[in-house]
Order: sequence, then structure tokens, then C-alpha cells
Amino acid sequence: MTDKYAVIGNPIAHSKSPLIHQMFAEQTGHDISYEAILAPPDGFAATVERLRMAGYCGCNITVPFKFDAFQLATKLTERAAAAQAVNTLKFDGATMLGDNTDGAGLVRDIERRMVLQAKRVLLIGAGGAAYGVVLPLLQAGAELTVVNRTPEKAQRLGLAFAGKVAVCSYRELDGLVFDCVINATSSGLFGEMPEIPDSIFAPGAWAYDMMYGKQTPFMAFARKSGAQVVDGLGMLVEQAAEAFFLWRGVRPDTMPVIAALRP
Ligand code: ATR
Repeated sequence: MTDKYAVIGNPIAHSKSPLIHQMFAEQTGHDISYEAILAPPDGFAATVERLRMAGYCGCNITVPFKFDAFQLATKLTERAAAAQAVNTLKFDGATMLGDNTDGAGLVRDIERRMVLQAKRVLLIGAGGAAYGVVLPLLQAGAELTVVNRTPEKAQRLGLAFAGKVAVCSYRELDGLVFDCVINATSSGLFGEMPEIPDSIFAPGAWAYDMMYGKQTPFMAFARKSGAQVVDGLGMLVEQAAEAFFLWRGVRPDTMPVIAALRP
């Protein structure tokens, strides 16, 4: 029998997740279906309930429902609790396990290029996208600094991770250098970029933008400043693979999928 999965979001038409999971299913020989479902802004819980009743095995959750999913889950993984957001639900009888695979996806994509242990990593942003990746970055051994336009939000993030993350303002970045700089802000959506100095990239540094599908001002700036630039496509495929693993117990090979999606 075909096991059913879905991704829930609003908007959702642009989602690449159905294509990615279809490729994983073909590659691993698993018999699954995976569709994109648009939920109304106030209809997330009802949509999940409908899927559960219809015998779905789990779902992914994207913008703007990751916090709703966090609240709805009956059980949380450690990384979902730390992220205060859930991007993967696994249904098991009355239990709804909430996980967050975004950070693991990012770490896996970065570690294809560099080892994070004892590396200086700057995380720009203190919204949902940033929270989602802090614990996996720390667990990979990164020395993490967070900077945000609104300093109070960065301070709050620092407190949430009990002093394991250094927090600074944009001005305090002057004179600091990092081996990896991650843009977890939504600035690229507006054609803007965080006000970071061009001196923050260590020789050979990597610059990550969690966005994919278009060049952002951050990517152009990082490239001009001598950094090696990566977009969020690899992270997208890796977080999907991590969800597939949670559901199916099998880890798909991500490289051919990333290559197939790369324009
Ligand atoms: P997400 O879930 O994508 O993280 P969010 O929770 O709304 O969305 O957070 C957006 C993040 O992008 C915030 O850190 C925001 O900074 P503020 O907290 O100061 O608002 C950051 N951001 C958005 N536009 C930005 C810009 N032009 N420059 C710098 N930071 C920006």
C-alpha cells in the first residue's frame, strides 16, 4: 500500500518538496505519495487532523506554520524543542512527533565543504530561520556568534541557548573574522542585505545564504569580498532527506537530487 505524505504551507505552489521526495522514493524503492497542500492561515490544525484521519503517515511544514506545528506536536525531538519550530511531523497512532530537520540539513550541506568543529561561524538573523539551526551548529562544534538588526532579538536568542552563543551588534563586527557566515535573514526577499563589513570573511571562508532560486545582494557582496558562496538549495534537499530518514528509516543519496534541481 502507498504511504501518504504531504507538505503544508501558505503559499505552497512553489514548493520543490514533492519533486524531491518523489526522487527519494524512486531512488530507495519506497512506495510513497507526497503532495503539496495549501492551508488557510487559520486552518493549520484542521488540515493536519484531516490528513491524520485520512491515514497519512506524516507531513512537512513550511512558512507560516512551523510554530503552529511546534504547538500541535504531542512529542518533540530535542532539536525541535530548541528551534521552537517544527518542519516535520510523524504520525503514530495518537502521537504526533515534531522534529526540525532544517539545522541538520544546513550542517550536512556545510560539512560537505568544511568541518565545523572549532570554526568561527557568524549567524546573521534572529528569527525563525536562525533559531532552527543554532543547536545543530553548536552540536557540530561551531563557535557561534549571532548578529541581528534588532539587538533585543539576538539577546533573546543568546539567552535561549544559555550562553553557548556569542551575541553582537553589526557595529561590533568590525575587526572580527569568520570561517563561515550564514545569512538566516529574510533580507534577500526584499533585495536587501544585512549591514556586515566586507572584512569579516577569513581567507577561504564560506558564505551561506539560506535562500535559493535567486541571487541575493548578500551572495553578490560575499563573492566580491572573496568568500566562496553557497545558496540554500543543498540545505533544502538535505532537510528533506533528514525528514525522509525520520519517516522511512533510510537515508537517500542527496547529491543526484541536488544536481537535478540545480538550474
Ligand atoms: P524567518 O522565519 O525567515 O527567520 P522572521 O522570523 O520574520 O522570518 O525573521 C526575519 C529575520 O530577518 C530577522 O532576523 C530580521 O531582523 P529583525 O529582527 O531586525 O527584524 C531579519 N531581516 C529582515 N530584513 C532584513 C534586512 N533588510 N536587514 C537585516 N536583517 C533583516
